[in-house]
Amino acid sequence: MTRPIALITGASSGIGASYARLLADDHDLILVARRADRLADLAEELRAHGAAVEVLPADLMANDGIAAVTDRLAAGDVRMLISNAGAGGYAPLADVESADIDRLLTLNAVAPIRLVHAALPAMLAAGEGTIVTVASLLAFSAGSTDPRAPRRTLYVAAKAATLGFTRTLAGELADTPVRVQVVCPGVVATDWNSGAGRSIPWAMAPEDVASASLAGLRLGETVCAPGLEGQDSALDDLLAAEGAFVAGGSQPALAARYTDPRA
Ligand SMILES: NC(=O)c1ccc[n+]([C@@H]2O[C@H](COP(=O)([O-])OP(=O)(O)OC[C@H]3O[C@@H](n4cnc5c(N)ncnc54)[C@H](OP(=O)(O)O)[C@@H]3O)[C@@H](O)[C@H]2O)c1
Repeated sequence: MTRPIALITGASSGIGASYARLLADDHDLILVARRADRLADLAEELRAHGAAVEVLPADLMANDGIAAVTDRLAAGDVRMLISNAGAGGYAPLADVESADIDRLLTLNAVAPIRLVHAALPAMLAAGEGTIVTVASLLAFSAGSTDPRAPRRTLYVAAKAATLGFTRTLAGELADTPVRVQVVCPGVVATDWNSGAGRSIPWAMAPEDVASASLAGLRLGETVCAPGLEGQDSALDDLLAAEGAFVAGGSQPALAARYTDPRA
């Protein structure tokens, strides 16, 4: 491998495969997912465009699968990490098997952190690096009662963790050469959720999500919401609301409503 190396999880379809195709022009690639046949087909396609491509089949719901990827990252040559693999598992929480809670949180929240943790030391030592996590607009939807939204409690828990992790890490690394971004797509027309997005009129193409993310990196965006116009002012509003909540609640005395004897 002679060009900067990008490792992409969830590269066997959808948004991850789109990142791979866009990055293959000027990166060598490591493709991670469970479906080795799909990764091999994509690798062959990308090699024809001049990229050196490694295929790394791994199940990121399992500790040994995560370890296979962190071991590869520990080699120290990866300069771009796209942590994109994910699964929805939409269901009312009471209907979710407890083993699936662990599996979904591992894939959607723990694996991204473990991978970033493994990739970061070499990026800092090299003085260059890019970290992208793919969360979701649903990470902002905890308080929403929109009936069109899926039964998503576990998914929101995981994606909100990824959102908070990545935004906080961006602040932690602000004075380093490592760029950090979290991508928050809306509905995307992929295999996701049994391909449900393909029949939704407002679904975005996966190529557009990947392309927005790479453009957002060039713009210096820490949060990339591909369909959102006026992102700067939306983020300013979000930061102001978060700041008011934290500053307002950081008081030594109880809020008045808790000291009202009728409460
Ligand atoms: N589509 C949407 O509407 C939407 C909206 C917001 C955010 N997102 C996020 O976008 C990301 C990509 O989703 P997509 O829309 O491109 O869907 P997709 O086409 O279904 O792709 C999901 C990718 O994740 C991989 N993956 C799933 N489980 C895995 C596991 N246990 N271990 C390793 N890899 C695994 C899949 O590969 P294998 O099956 O081969 O393992 C596949 O490559 C996800 O994180 C998702 O949460 C999607």
